[in-house]
Amino acid sequence: MPVNFNNTELSDILELKKVSQSYDGGKNYIIKDLDFLVEDVPDRGQFIVILGPSGCGKSTVLRYLAGLQKPTEGEVFIKGKKRSEKDRIGMVFQQYSSFPWMSVLDNVGLGLKFQGISKQERDDKAMEMLKIVGLQGHEKKYAQYPTLSGGQLQRVAIARSLLVNNEIILMDEPFGALDTNTRLRMQDFIIGVWEKVQPTIVLVTHDISEAVYLADDIYIMSNAPAKFIEHVDVNLPFKRDRTIKRDPVFVEIVRYIEDKMMSMEV
Ligand SMILES: Nc1ncnc2c1ncn2[C@@H]1O[C@H](COP(=O)(O)OP(=O)(O)O)[C@@H](O)[C@H]1O
Ligand SMILES: [Mg+2]
Repeated sequence: MPVNFNNTELSDILELKKVSQSYDGGKNYIIKDLDFLVEDVPDRGQFIVILGPSGCGKSTVLRYLAGLQKPTEGEVFIKGKKRSEKDRIGMVFQQYSSFPWMSVLDNVGLGLKFQGISKQERDDKAMEMLKIVGLQGHEKKYAQYPTLSGGQLQRVAIARSLLVNNEIILMDEPFGALDTNTRLRMQDFIIGVWEKVQPTIVLVTHDISEAVYLADDIYIMSNAPAKFIEHVDVNLPFKRDRTIKRDPVFVEIVRYIEDKMMSMEV
């Protein structure tokens, strides 16, 4: 049963309306008539997680929202209006996306540079953001491995995205390249950032436990042509910490999703 996105009285922050994607002039579709709706939750933000098998179209959906790709059919809306060039939304990728020949400070302020904001203002705002992501003292270092660790480099990318837009942040398997230990720490780190800044986060992952740990709402995507086949309302309290992973409710949700994914055709 595909997911119904019921519109409530809350204002819409992100929406895909009947989007389709074909790469061969309409012979085959990887995404067909897909709807997706995220409503704004004022003074709190939301943590939405999209979960699905490899190649089902998760990154494509994020690229539509980020404005990095246009669907072959259908419409993208940001805050209730058709997406335009003026809608700037940051995205954090799995691969380290900073420029290694530039300082941490310059990398974080980069989005503002493209908007023509002065160096002084960029630096001031970037410093504020570096405090939020716990990288003060590292601002003059080159944003490269191993000068910075993998986790620190992802914090640089998160800071840059938040400076571009602190209301919406898109994350495409942001912890996928990190070792397990760092990945677990980064999960707690992003919960902390979310509590401080309260943005709407849409995060893509294929890690079920990560999805349940982070999300308010999980949308499970099927294989091509992609559909949302399941909405899971993660009814666990905030603030979360690692101990919740042993909570019977957490364990049950993980098991439920695992069964759903195993029942999907591949
Ligand atoms: N430029 C392209 N040309 C043809 N097929 C593509 C192109 N980009 C992506 N695809 C296909 O679209 C599907 C969805 O890709 P993607 O959104 O990256 O999936 P996911 O992020 O879920 O792994 C994949 O099957 C991929 O092979
Ligand atoms: Mg992907």
